[in-house]
Amino acid sequence: MNISAASLDAICRTRDGYVRWFKSVTSIDLLDYEPHVASECLQVGVWFSRRRGAIPVQEIINDSMEYITQERTGFFRDGFVWESLSRFVSARPATTWTAWCAACSFGCEPYSLAMLLNSATKRNKHYIIATDIDSRLLRHAKRGAFQHHDLLDDPLGLIPRYTVWREGHCVVADTIRTTVSFRNHNALLGSPIREPVDILLMRNLLTYLSPNAQARAMQASYDALKPGGAFVVSSPDIEINKGFTLLEPSVYIRL
Ligand SMILES: C[S@@+](CC[C@H](N)C(=O)[O-])C[C@H]1O[C@@H](n2cnc3c(N)ncnc32)[C@H](O)[C@@H]1O
Repeated sequence: MNISAASLDAICRTRDGYVRWFKSVTSIDLLDYEPHVASECLQVGVWFSRRRGAIPVQEIINDSMEYITQERTGFFRDGFVWESLSRFVSARPATTWTAWCAACSFGCEPYSLAMLLNSATKRNKHYIIATDIDSRLLRHAKRGAFQHHDLLDDPLGLIPRYTVWREGHCVVADTIRTTVSFRNHNALLGSPIREPVDILLMRNLLTYLSPNAQARAMQASYDALKPGGAFVVSSPDIEINKGFTLLEPSVYIRL
């Protein structure tokens, strides 16, 4: 899909006009994020509107995504959280776990979770749905091949067991890859699947959202989890209280 430079120029005359247009082509509401995000994305639109002729809308979206939230991630990021989650999982070894990783970036996080579940329960019947709003990141995630600097931590010593090095990349084993499904999905719209899950990871997303969007994301998380399920976040600065109780730092239990 293309848009003419003249039409884009007209849309970019007001921030609200640009926010409405961006939502109509992506379903992403820029006002759900910190206030500077809408302004930065508007500047992307203005920059493209100075071109001539037809402009591919996807190019505008791709360039805007970089401002929406950072894609930074890594295996077993914040190791202490994975140790807490491991204790939670080990207390129920017979469970066949379902999980939603709600802002998975390029995949290190859901693969870390798949390794944890596989090793803690000696089974491979878990189901992890991993979602993000950026399709380019999801394409990277599906390849399952990572770089040295993506291996941030390994508190449970699982990376060597579930990966091999091939042509300079750390490649995730098929036993792990087959338990993770990737999908483009806006986490603010609620769960991507009908059945409630046992574990929901929403890390390093809430902190980038407006207060209104944070409240909606937490309600969506509550609705997506089974009672007794684990809600794993990153931000100690965001208060998670209604409907959850703290188990260990960054790990909450859905009431
Ligand atoms: C900083 S990364 C966090 C990645 C991972 N959760 C971690 O903590 O390592 C934030 C991710 O959130 C994604 N994102 C932003 N808004 C989103 C939304 N409304 N729904 C789903 N993903 C979103 C971004 O594309 C980005 O990949």
